[in-house]
Amino acid sequence: MAALEGKVAVITGSTSGIGARTAERFVAEGARVVIAGRRKDRGEKLAQKLGDHASFIQTDVSVEADVEAMIHHAVKRFGRLDCLVNNAGRGSQFATIADADLEEFDAVIAVHLRAVLAGMKYAARAMAAQGSGSIITVASVNGIHAGLGGHYYSAAKAASIHLTRCAAMELGEKGIRVNSISPGMTATGAFGKYGGVTADEADDHPEYAEAAIGAVMSRWQPLLSVARADDIAHAAVFLASDASRMITGHNLVVDGGISAGWPIGAVRSDRELFFRKFQEARSA
Ligand SMILES: NC(=O)c1ccc[n+]([C@@H]2O[C@H](COP(=O)([O-])OP(=O)(O)OC[C@H]3O[C@@H](n4cnc5c(N)ncnc54)[C@H](OP(=O)(O)O)[C@@H]3O)[C@@H](O)[C@H]2O)c1
Repeated sequence: MAALEGKVAVITGSTSGIGARTAERFVAEGARVVIAGRRKDRGEKLAQKLGDHASFIQTDVSVEADVEAMIHHAVKRFGRLDCLVNNAGRGSQFATIADADLEEFDAVIAVHLRAVLAGMKYAARAMAAQGSGSIITVASVNGIHAGLGGHYYSAAKAASIHLTRCAAMELGEKGIRVNSISPGMTATGAFGKYGGVTADEADDHPEYAEAAIGAVMSRWQPLLSVARADDIAHAAVFLASDASRMITGHNLVVDGGISAGWPIGAVRSDRELFFRKFQEARSA
């Protein structure tokens, strides 16, 4: 049997990147999915490609009424809700603390934290009535490892990881599992979109980001392959499936090892320098 046979999932931010690939994987594993995002043309195109197993609803996750309507749409169209993937995301400025723009901070929090809570709120109501469900939030390695992402984004992702744990503690007794996935740098249109490329061009060419990530990652990431949307989608399939039935309150890191420590390639020359200086001091 396919991993998600008979399950119904809502995936936010599934008009591109990780969300779109997750929608494709979920359908391939037997699920029916609601594709949610702001761009109608892309959402409808993906839903059409996936056929009867998919339905698009235009959603701005920073608007609570949209999130409520999105969850209701899933239950009305497919009869139940087994999984919510809170995946919608946006970039943010690399502002210094002294130059922090608090309106931009609020806008980042609205999508990466407030919307996650809104999704949990309405999904938990639908799932509690069934006595089962899996809520997955796509957080980030920046939520556990400082210095690579912008301050607002990193703080919002850290909070979403902790909100996941808090929600897991409350919702366990209702049969609802709550987990997060923390991707490392993953080749999607996200980088281009916030680097001045049009959204469509960036989303249709993840290979631009793949080449750029490949050029810089060896200082941070021990595995020397660039992560793709598919790598994160596989993790989401696992957390949505019954194979993970005893996993809740967990942050599943899919980062090629970024958060585990310093890659040997980055510290090799420092180690050589250390021992050379040690011997020089000894023989001085
Ligand atoms: N790529 C990475 O390296 C990386 C690393 C760690 C974490 N992540 C996280 O992974 C998630 C997916 O990102 P991605 O890399 O796949 O980038 P992406 O292709 O740009 O996907 C972001 C999605 O979020 C949607 N979105 C943005 N604002 C929204 C809003 N207000 N309401 C509803 N949908 C909204 C966008 O669709 P519309 O424009 O159609 O609304 C888009 O489909 C994000 O949460 C991101 O922070 C990515």
